[in-house]
Amino acid sequence: MAQQEDVFKKIVSHCKEYGFVFPSSDIYDGLGAVYDYGQNGVELKNNIKQYWWQSMVLLHQNIVGIDAAIFMHPTTWKASGHVDAFNDPLIDNRDSKKRYRADVLIEDQIAKYDEKIEKEVSKARKRFGDSFDEVMFCSTNQRVLDIKAKRDALHERYAQAMNAGDLNELRQIILDEEIVCPISGTRNWTEVRQFNLMFKTEVGSTAEGASTIYLRPETAQGIFVNYLNVQKTGRMKLPFGIAQIGKAFRNEIVARQFIFRMREFEQMEMQFFVKPGTELEWFQKWKQTRMAWHQALGFGAENYRFHDHDKLAHYANAATDIEFHMPFGFKEVEGIHSRTNFDLSQHAKYSGKKIEYFDPDTNESYTPYVIETSIGVDRMFLSVMCHSFEEEQLPGGETRTVLHLPAALAPVKLAVFPLTKKDGLPEKAQEIINDLRFHFNCKYEEKDQIGKRYRRMDAIGTPYCVTVDPQTLQDNTVTLRDRDTMEQRRVNISELRGIIEDQVSITSLLKKLL
Ligand code: GAP
Repeated sequence: MAQQEDVFKKIVSHCKEYGFVFPSSDIYDGLGAVYDYGQNGVELKNNIKQYWWQSMVLLHQNIVGIDAAIFMHPTTWKASGHVDAFNDPLIDNRDSKKRYRADVLIEDQIAKYDEKIEKEVSKARKRFGDSFDEVMFCSTNQRVLDIKAKRDALHERYAQAMNAGDLNELRQIILDEEIVCPISGTRNWTEVRQFNLMFKTEVGSTAEGASTIYLRPETAQGIFVNYLNVQKTGRMKLPFGIAQIGKAFRNEIVARQFIFRMREFEQMEMQFFVKPGTELEWFQKWKQTRMAWHQALGFGAENYRFHDHDKLAHYANAATDIEFHMPFGFKEVEGIHSRTNFDLSQHAKYSGKKIEYFDPDTNESYTPYVIETSIGVDRMFLSVMCHSFEEEQLPGGETRTVLHLPAALAPVKLAVFPLTKKDGLPEKAQEIINDLRFHFNCKYEEKDQIGKRYRRMDAIGTPYCVTVDPQTLQDNTVTLRDRDTMEQRRVNISELRGIIEDQVSITSLLKKLL
């Protein structure tokens, strides 16, 4: 675990050192849970967004995109339930004056029980070697059974308190479990209170004329309120989807794990409108489609899992998360929900508009049901970074830091180096870039020896490097180096585009989805 935490710290520093992610307003010492993407980060992020967007709107004839405004009519958030129910339970420690999410404190306590069990298992594995049977051990070892019983009882009590919105019970659990503040080490806790996560601001110039509006906490509502506009103007027939990428804002109480939980973040959401009664079939289809999208990146099926929700929101009739194996455990990257007709019906009720679909096949009107796929761009970015980062031991005792990014997502696809800064080599290198830059992102580098330039490109995940040397001027060939194998081969300049373009294009990923 500690080793994984070290790796995660290295990834965070790497992101800053190589222009991927900076703390927001860094010169003023940053702003909690807000980050800026640097010169390489923005390219990687744009590539992730392009991969998602194209997989939705290019590969599906019945999915179209929109780009709704961040500000929406305040009644939107009343109708969606966010004004009344988009809350986290918070608790303060009176000694440290630090604020925590009560649910997170309890979930961390549950995780501690899990860690204890894991410790027992790994001790036993060492003791018994190859003959170790984990299932048998966990079902018979008394110590493990005792810890598991405590863990399960806590989990049950916690789930009941959360479902009932019982804040006193949440506090009582924290007291009974003797959970202490990590800063002060004391159990001097306040009451638990509900805290709405939406940021408020005012629109209008005078105090009297101004009205409160919210920064949207999800992009989905921009799609729901445009359902009729898109359906009518696009003459869309059910089933059809509307996709959107955009910023969302949540006043998260506990900001943790770098860009995993941010106050300003980006979502890629798609609402798929279907005929009532067919939604569970579509839910299963979208689960498979979305999992395939993740797995096409080649990070290994073992690093993903579904977490099906057993406790459903009152308006949902199925829900699952796609979790990815981050250095700090399996964590949600995407949510897939069957949201019934809740949102459209609520907006119909609050707006007084009829929001329905006339089905020409059956001659009836109804409110469509919705399957939602919702993924955080920043979490996706983090999962890509975590999986790609490696401190690789090389023969001879050297190490190199390399990002094994999927080539289609890499910020720079090809780096071109003149071996020296003279004899016409820089001009020849520039000529290659001038030719290839229309097809993919190329970078010119002439500083330092070639070895150092390779290392810099490895660190930002550039899949190919080309070196121009005196032989190039005679026979138009260059050395082409592969990031992962570090193998070099001599190829003709005229072949470069053909070799590289296919490997680095988003199309190469999209083709895996068909
Ligand atoms: N419209 C549904 C919705 O917003 P959600 O589970 O609250 O559902 C969907 O969010 C996705 O948005 C999450 O799976 C996660 O990837 C991302 N996300 C949510 N809150 C986030 C935060 N504070 N920071 C970064 N990403 C976040």
